[in-house]
Amino acid sequence: WRRAWQRSPVFLPGESHRQRSLESSIGYDAIIISGTEMAKQIQKEIQHGVDSWVSLGNRRPHLSIILVGDNPASHTYVRRKIKAAAAVGICSEIILKPKDVSQEELLDITDQLNADPRVSGILVQLPLPDHMDERTVCNGISPEKDVDGFHIINIGRLCLDQHSLIPATASAVWEIIRRTGIETFGKNVVVAGRSKNVGMPIAMLLHTDGEHERPGGDATVTIAHRYTPKEQLKIHTLLADVIIVAAGVPKLITSDMVKEGAAVIDVGINYVHDPTTGKTKLVGDVDFEAVKKKASFITPVPGGVGPMTVAMLLKNTLLAAKKIIY
Ligand code: GUN
Repeated sequence: WRRAWQRSPVFLPGESHRQRSLESSIGYDAIIISGTEMAKQIQKEIQHGVDSWVSLGNRRPHLSIILVGDNPASHTYVRRKIKAAAAVGICSEIILKPKDVSQEELLDITDQLNADPRVSGILVQLPLPDHMDERTVCNGISPEKDVDGFHIINIGRLCLDQHSLIPATASAVWEIIRRTGIETFGKNVVVAGRSKNVGMPIAMLLHTDGEHERPGGDATVTIAHRYTPKEQLKIHTLLADVIIVAAGVPKLITSDMVKEGAAVIDVGINYVHDPTTGKTKLVGDVDFEAVKKKASFITPVPGGVGPMTVAMLLKNTLLAAKKIIY
C-alpha cells in the first residue's frame, strides 16, 4: 500500500500502526506525507479525465477566476491555480478588477459567467475588499459552477451529506487521509479551527455517516477554536487519533499535545520572520520537528495540504464541466 508520496522509513510486513508508533518513541520519525507527490498523482488522473472528456467531443473545461485588488498573496495563489489548470489541460482566465470595484459590477460579471456555456467553473478569490459582502458574492455564482464550494446551496448540501462541490481544502484533507490509509471510523479526531471555508467543512466530512449519499469518515470529531483554552485543547488532542490544524497560529500544536502514533495534518499558512536568513518563510500550525518524532503520519508546510488544495480545485472544475454533481 505504500506509495511514492510516503517516504521511508516504511512499515515492515506485518508491522502494525501501533507497533510503529511505539517504536517512534525510541527514535522513529513519522512518515512525512508529501502533498506535492500526491497532488502530482491526482493531477495525472485529472489530466486523463480531461483528455477522455475532450476526446468524446465535449468542450474543454474552463475555469474563470475573478481577482479583485492587489493583495500579493491572492495574486500568487491565483497564478498557481492558472498554472496547475494549464498543466492538466483546463483552460482558464483571470478577470482582474481594481480594489474599488463595486459589488454590483462583480455580480454582473458572475451573472455573465453563469450564463456563458463556455465557462464550466467560476471562483472569486478571497478575501474581498471591506465594502463587499463575501457571502453575497459567493452566492452570486451558480451552485453548479461554484468550484470553491462556497455557495450556500453547496454548503447546505455538504451539511446534509448530499453530493455537492466540496471546498478544496476540505477535499484535500479528506483525500490525504484516504490515500494514506489513515483510519477514521470510530476514531477521535480534533479539528482546530472553525472557519466556514476550512475547519467547518473538514469537521463535516469526518464526523458524518460513511453510508450516506456523500460518505463521511464516521469519526468522533471535536472542533476547537480561538476561545478553546490551551490546556483544554491539549486534553482533546491527547485523546485524538487524528489532529487537523487550521487555526493560523504557528506552533499551536506542540509534541506534548500529541498522542504517540497520532496522524497530524497541518493546514496552517503562516508567514514568519526567519532569523537565520533574515527573510520571511512559510510555516504551518504544528511544531513539525518535535511532533514528527511522535506522530505516525504528518504533513509538512510547505508541500503538504497546499498543493493538494490546488489539485482538488482542478478536480472540482472537471466535475463541474462534466455536470457530475448537478
Ligand atoms: N483565499 C484563500 N483560500 C481561498 C480559496 O480556497 N478560495 C478562494 N476563492 N479564495 C481563497
